[in-house]
Amino acid sequence: MTSDQQLRAKVTEELAKHKSMVEQDSYRLHYHLMPPVGLLNDPNGFIQWKGTYHLFYQWMPFKTGHGAKFWGHFTSKDLVNWQHEEVALTPAEWFEKNGCYSGSAIEHEGELYLFYTGNVKNENDERESYQCLATSRDGIHFEKNGPVITLPDGFTAHFRDPKVWQQDDRYFMVIGAQTEALKGAIVLFQSDDLTDWKWVRTLTGGDSGKLTDFGYMFECPDLFHLDGKDVLVFSPQGLKPDGMKYQNVYQAGYTVGAFDPKAGKYEHNKFIELDRGFDFYAPQTTTDDQGRRLLFAWMSVPDQDEQMHPTIKHKWLHTMTLPRELQLKGDKLYQAPVKELENLRKGDAVVEEVVLNNHVKQVERAYGQAFELLVEKVELDEGWFELTIRHAARIIYSSEQRVLTLERKSYVDGVIEKRQCQLEHVRNLRLFVDTSSIELFMNDGAEVFTTRFYPTKESEQVTFATSEECRFKVKNWTLAKVT
Ligand code: FRU
Repeated sequence: MTSDQQLRAKVTEELAKHKSMVEQDSYRLHYHLMPPVGLLNDPNGFIQWKGTYHLFYQWMPFKTGHGAKFWGHFTSKDLVNWQHEEVALTPAEWFEKNGCYSGSAIEHEGELYLFYTGNVKNENDERESYQCLATSRDGIHFEKNGPVITLPDGFTAHFRDPKVWQQDDRYFMVIGAQTEALKGAIVLFQSDDLTDWKWVRTLTGGDSGKLTDFGYMFECPDLFHLDGKDVLVFSPQGLKPDGMKYQNVYQAGYTVGAFDPKAGKYEHNKFIELDRGFDFYAPQTTTDDQGRRLLFAWMSVPDQDEQMHPTIKHKWLHTMTLPRELQLKGDKLYQAPVKELENLRKGDAVVEEVVLNNHVKQVERAYGQAFELLVEKVELDEGWFELTIRHAARIIYSSEQRVLTLERKSYVDGVIEKRQCQLEHVRNLRLFVDTSSIELFMNDGAEVFTTRFYPTKESEQVTFATSEECRFKVKNWTLAKVT
């Protein structure tokens, strides 16, 4: 047996051994993508190819920890119903023996091309990294072409996560990097044929431009054109908390600017976080045949006490966010759950007009474990307004401070922790609650909070409370179990 065959056989064995254990977990998600066993992290190779959406992901099938990653693979026709395919890439060759790390997909002459980072750690624990290519005719079985880019001078081996796109009859690739001076950077390569790649420049970070003192490593870059501008999404490491900003261990966000493909240069504005919740990292986007810019992210952050998640007992860890559509309004990205997710709704909405007009009045309703809740036409002139979700998370808006707060019970020690953002007013809140996750879209996606949480199975309530008079309309739907 080849080493690839051995690894695949081991995955099959692991699945057979633990599948039912994973399936018995009440925190198993109903409509989010999660690993069949083991650990899931970054979305990879997100593409719509020959009418099918492909989403690959960083997968450690053998334990609920990190290590020599595989590329797991989901496919879907509609972004709602997904199928788990056979493993796409195993870390079988010398140039990837410690992991087929993150990367992207592109179509070329009818074939599917995957670019990813081959991670290698040699005996002295020294790291090497290779940007590699694998191709496929059927989108399921991949042939490895090996490294196409080796480490350029001036960078440490923290050099990874290639994202490739086509523009003006040329191909471009951005890679996340760390300079020898230990600064985060994003570098640009260019190619005419996807095989022979030429270094262009450091696009941002490193020693020049606006992001020179902005952390020690940039991961998972993604540069794309949207609504007349060029957006660079990436995940910087090493930022210090700054007021309400940068509260997680690592961040994920974007800059807006202009990319000049001839000169290979990118001018941009300041960095803005994409999601202010506890669990959001390594987002990746693609476009589809409706011209939409779609995004998935990993619903977690590296190095955040992950061994404390209760799902570990059931042999699995982490999930993806819902697929979201991006729009740029001015220099701000708006995120909305894709329209297709309306197909998850079971039956018609339950609609209620709510008026809370006593001092600290509460209304409690049971909605279940997996539901969508739309709170709209919010009228709140003074005081505060809050929603407690399944007794384990709380959303509070203060009209005096103009601050929105998300609180959750920590999965590490049960202590209440919070994330916040400034918000001039609340017009609407759209919440997607799954068995152990919340995605909160505020004011049509101007701000988003994504978080894991672990309510008890019996807690199915949402409580609304306010300090002064508050009116709003609530619509809610039970959502189907599809994953
Ligand atoms: C981001 C990341 C990537 C890397 C991958 C390894 O979460 O660290 O930079 O390619 O995960 O799984």
